[in-house]
Amino acid sequence: MDFLKITDISKEKLHSILQLAAKLKEEHKSGKINFSLAGKTLALLMEKPSTRTLASFQIGMAQLGGQTTVLSSSVSQLSRGEPFSDTGAILGSYCDIIAARLHKHTDLEELANATSTPVINALTDLDHPCQALAALLTMKENGKLFPGAKFVFAGDCGFNVANALMGACALEGMDITLACPQECAVNKEYLKFAQSHSTVKISHDLLSAAKDADIIYTDTWVSMGQEEEKEKRMQLFLPFQVNSATMHAAKKDAIFMHDLPAYRGKEVTSDVIDGPQSTIYAEAENRLHVQKALMLHLLGKA
Ligand code: CP
Ligand code: NVA
Repeated sequence: MDFLKITDISKEKLHSILQLAAKLKEEHKSGKINFSLAGKTLALLMEKPSTRTLASFQIGMAQLGGQTTVLSSSVSQLSRGEPFSDTGAILGSYCDIIAARLHKHTDLEELANATSTPVINALTDLDHPCQALAALLTMKENGKLFPGAKFVFAGDCGFNVANALMGACALEGMDITLACPQECAVNKEYLKFAQSHSTVKISHDLLSAAKDADIIYTDTWVSMGQEEEKEKRMQLFLPFQVNSATMHAAKKDAIFMHDLPAYRGKEVTSDVIDGPQSTIYAEAENRLHVQKALMLHLLGKA
């Protein structure tokens, strides 16, 4: 069993992962040792940079008694064009679980198809399902995870984090509003999935989209791999910056969310991201707990 897309899992599976993550978090904070993955190994394959994903997978595996090998694509034979299928088959024969952060989702599929070892998507251009799990746990902790809660994604609604959140919030029956420029292409497959589980509105006006929101979420306007389009994207998304006016339009107790890394003064102003409604550090911390729960599930130890 792999975890390549948020839309791969059922609502029931999602809930049991979140429940286990909350339990693991509580146990970890109370100092309880859990070595359920003793003797197990994780291969972490990284084609793009990372702080949270890299650290939380390595530390999470260590906390569960297992070990991690980190392979960055630049020091691996991927850099000279070794196929993802060969890489997947070989890593899969060494370890018990693989987490890979790649540009192309089709490369991740090629890697995963070459091995029966479970493969986790640690971010591709298409999806970032581990981020979505952490976001849901954070919403739950803040009393914002319920059917009909208004979830607003502002800015780049056509890339990995927006896709993952669209899928996750739809599974929870939340009312989704995507606030983005007309030129921003929303992913049709994720949109269809979300529409079949929930309601989705697309708005080109952030202030009206943010009205009565329970959650305002944003992501960088320039994702990894889009650096050449930086100037164009900065202009395009400017009207979708989350600022105090956006938060004012939302419910009084709305929360602000961001997957990080964030660019203060670009997709979000400092007063919002560093303000009392922001949940950024909680969400980043929750990456650790949801990924531990996910690995236990994938390895049949949940
Ligand atoms: N949010 C996230 O995936 O962060 P990193 O790029 O630091 O892993
Ligand atoms: N959309 C961002 C997410 C970073 C965690 C990117 O792909 O760079």
